[in-house]
Amino acid sequence: MKEVKRVFKVNGKPFFPLGGQSCNSSGYSEKTSETAFKVIKLLHGNTLEIPVYWDNIEPEEGKFNFTAVDNLLASARRYEVKLILLWFATWKNGNMDYAPAWVKSNPQRFQRVISPAGKDLWVLSSHCHATFEADKKAFTALCKHLKVKDSTEQTVIGLQIENEPGILGSDRDYGYEAQTVFDSPVPVKLITEMKKSGKGTVYNLWQQAGGQESSTWPEIFGYAAGELMTAWSIAGYINSIAEAGKAVYHLPMYVNVWLMEQPSWRFPGETYPSGGAISKVLDIYKWFAPSLDMIAPDNYQEDSKTYEAVCAAYSRDDNPFFMPETGFIGNSQGWNIFRAIADYNLIGDGYFGVEYMVNDDGLIRPEFQTGADSLRCVAAVIPLLLKYQGTGKVHAIIQEDLLWSQHLDFEGFAGLVEFGAGRGGFVGRDWKHKPIVTMPERTETNRGRGLIIQASRNEFYLVGANYRLYLRPQPSMIKTQSPRPVVDPSPKLHGYFMSVDEGHFDQNGEFVVDLQRNGDEISRGLWVEPNIGVVRVITCD
Ligand code: DGJ
Repeated sequence: MKEVKRVFKVNGKPFFPLGGQSCNSSGYSEKTSETAFKVIKLLHGNTLEIPVYWDNIEPEEGKFNFTAVDNLLASARRYEVKLILLWFATWKNGNMDYAPAWVKSNPQRFQRVISPAGKDLWVLSSHCHATFEADKKAFTALCKHLKVKDSTEQTVIGLQIENEPGILGSDRDYGYEAQTVFDSPVPVKLITEMKKSGKGTVYNLWQQAGGQESSTWPEIFGYAAGELMTAWSIAGYINSIAEAGKAVYHLPMYVNVWLMEQPSWRFPGETYPSGGAISKVLDIYKWFAPSLDMIAPDNYQEDSKTYEAVCAAYSRDDNPFFMPETGFIGNSQGWNIFRAIADYNLIGDGYFGVEYMVNDDGLIRPEFQTGADSLRCVAAVIPLLLKYQGTGKVHAIIQEDLLWSQHLDFEGFAGLVEFGAGRGGFVGRDWKHKPIVTMPERTETNRGRGLIIQASRNEFYLVGANYRLYLRPQPSMIKTQSPRPVVDPSPKLHGYFMSVDEGHFDQNGEFVVDLQRNGDEISRGLWVEPNIGVVRVITCD
């Protein structure tokens, strides 16, 4: 049993944000955000992540305009979705695109990162106090505004501070202030934390460089010094902004990460922004940004191995696991999400660029159907996830490459999942879901996938697509049947059921039966499809 920290809450109750993130330029007005809201509804989501831009709310220094924010609040309430607002300010993908013109045009006051060649980069320096103060002032003004406008309704459930912060173009700032820090002793707190932890990548880098007790950044961290110093500096900068924001309005706050895992080199400042909270420097963020509720990876990984490595790195006891951005290109997200939920206690998820998912008629484009279906399945069992994640009762079903079936051990029962139509014969599923006689059926876009939740010994809930589950008491009480039946569909493939129902969860989290299944519709296994809702199975011993 692992306690899952529910960072997101609505009226004090745990909330599982699910949906997606708008495209970058959608947060300016009611008109530009409209499609994003519509897609969240199409996806059966409950939350839209959408930016608030520093250059938009403070076009002139000290003069704030929250029209765009108010429009988002109004639209979200109209569409009945929650918002996570993304503060695009000092950093956006390792540069300063969203800083106001009065910041961009005054590099003397708002200093830039200086490259090793001595050139100004299009990145604001985290070592510049004036920039920090200006960003903090704008962010706290936003928090004040939200408190006034939204503390009763609680439309906004969280704030992302900055977007994929870090430096693109250099591993660190080579300007005067930053160089002074680089050549000064590493903060005592960092050495103390490393000693205390005695493990991890930051600790290992320290040891590899000789493990000195006190010295400059390059002496302590060797070749990684530039990146680690930048991480420490940005973590502190963002932490202080979060602290100031929370003092005004206490919302969950987090930072997102442009990961180093990608099909390319892994050079800080070149292939990903240096100083962002990649897994290598995550410890530094945990030690120096305690006001952030979590560090959240933008997990676009397509292959399940790398995807899972990201889950493993960010799902820690001290870091609730939230993925603000996941991929919409390709279909890997269509099934990886179930692993993140079942095995890594994901507390919320969003597809990036939801507007891309629909065609001109506002319908989900075929290439995104897999992902949309998977989100629908997750949405259907949110009340169960809030209850059972972390207890070992939530199981991911994923038809990995070359996998025909999946075996599961439940409390008191054994489970066999077959992918595709299984041994369905002409009945297959039911008359509304066309029978398919081949086995196993799998296409790249419609892998068997979903979740099985065993709420109690005899009570199972299933969601997903393209799989069917057989359940038998454990150890087997059915003597007449081979444990590996290979031919005919047979009721003896599974044990006996008290009831099998299709249904949904109501507002109070109670299961409501929409349709009862029996006979042909249960004798070929307990099948699921995204449009049938949740299947509840009550077994008999
Ligand atoms: C990750 C960023 O966080 C998003 O704002 C967006 O730029 C996407 N990348 C685009 O792929």
